Amino acid sequence: MVSLSFLPFVTSLLPFTKPIPGNSPIEQCDISSKQSLKLYSVDLSPNPPERGQNLTITASGFLSDDIEQGAYVDVVVNYGYIKLLTQTYDLCDELPNIDMTCPINNGDYTLTKIVQIPNEVPPGKYTVFARAYNKDDSMISCLTGTVEFPQLL
Ligand SMILES: *[C@@H]1O[C@H](CO)[C@@H](O)[C@H](O)[C@H]1NC(C)=O
Repeated sequence: MVSLSFLPFVTSLLPFTKPIPGNSPIEQCDISSKQSLKLYSVDLSPNPPERGQNLTITASGFLSDDIEQGAYVDVVVNYGYIKLLTQTYDLCDELPNIDMTCPINNGDYTLTKIVQIPNEVPPGKYTVFARAYNKDDSMISCLTGTVEFPQLL
């Protein structure tokens, strides 16, 4: 018989996640941490994303704390078991990519972003963690998602 006594240990290492309503593989992570962005829904089209296609991301949510200069986002991308990228970005520098600029006042927001997924993306399983923080290190949001691109035939 296999012992399951290690299970509580294993689950304690995993970041706790909660699904976000909508048609996407994106979930909220680190849910034991207070987060100032509450996402009502996230939709991807197509879902799952496909190589060589334009991916449309639509998200809506409520922001309870203003976002100001100094906010940042830690991004981790895993490719299978390999850590492909760990990078910290200035959030205010990145916001023009989604047609927003700092400061962002609290309130309801809906945004749409189209990204082109290159044909050359290697097949495999990608897991992304994005943790956004205000200047004072309070958490704005933790998002995670896994996408698997199949082998090319
Ligand atoms: C994706 O969008 C770009 C820019 O709008 C467009 O030029 C391109 O043809 C689109 N690609 C596909 C596969 O629809």
